[in-house]
Amino acid sequence: MSKAFETTFYKIESKRFGKSYRFALVADIHAEVPQGLAEKLSELAPDFILMPGDTFERLDGSQDQKNECSYDLIEQISKIAPVFLSVGNHENGGLASWNAFKWFAIESIPKYYSPKDEARLASLDAAFLDDSFTLCDGIAFGGLSSGLINEGHMPSLEWLGEFSELECPKVLLCHHPEYYKKYLSELSIDLIVCGHAHGGQWRIFGRGVFAPGQGLFPKYTSGVLDGRTVISRGLKKSSRIPRIFNKPELVVIDITR
Ligand SMILES: [Fe+2]
Repeated sequence: MSKAFETTFYKIESKRFGKSYRFALVADIHAEVPQGLAEKLSELAPDFILMPGDTFERLDGSQDQKNECSYDLIEQISKIAPVFLSVGNHENGGLASWNAFKWFAIESIPKYYSPKDEARLASLDAAFLDDSFTLCDGIAFGGLSSGLINEGHMPSLEWLGEFSELECPKVLLCHHPEYYKKYLSELSIDLIVCGHAHGGQWRIFGRGVFAPGQGLFPKYTSGVLDGRTVISRGLKKSSRIPRIFNKPELVVIDITR
């Protein structure tokens, strides 16, 4: 039986971290955990597990049953390494905002992470980073939330000033890869991890065909940008539009000195 996902390894050289680290990038689960994921993570033995959004399907109560499998996964993998989560568009109400040709004007939609969800993640020992950061083992981990529900679809950038000026190494979870060139490329951040584009859904000659927020033949769907921004093709198996030549992907980032 073929595997439900493949594992991609990237090596990034950086003296900023002081020693070698292994990060696992678990993006775009969408409450459909591929078989064998927790076991594979256990075998890979990462130092940290990064989940940059769309881990859940909307958190407004309508998908509670489905979301249980994401909570189960977090509970399992938090025993392997510290887990960090940031907010994707499927968690904060930015879904259903694309009508194939243009963005709908969105009125104010409340964020879906309720205090109950946040308490549950905390009880599982997972750090929930909603436009905020935390320190762990001398590394600052930040989470830039999806801005699709905000005015002009802009992410909230204010807190990034303080984050990027920290002396210690900095890792940013950022659901949208298209934010990197627009908002982040000038900032002092050592590692940025993204998802969202699902590899462009169909891949032809190594390029994605379509990604929300980037449109047709998107630029940012997979790989490493500027030696520090890693884009996962995501782990969701299926959707109304099938993935073609684009297996779900677990990413491992080895930081070497
Ligand atoms: Fe997304």
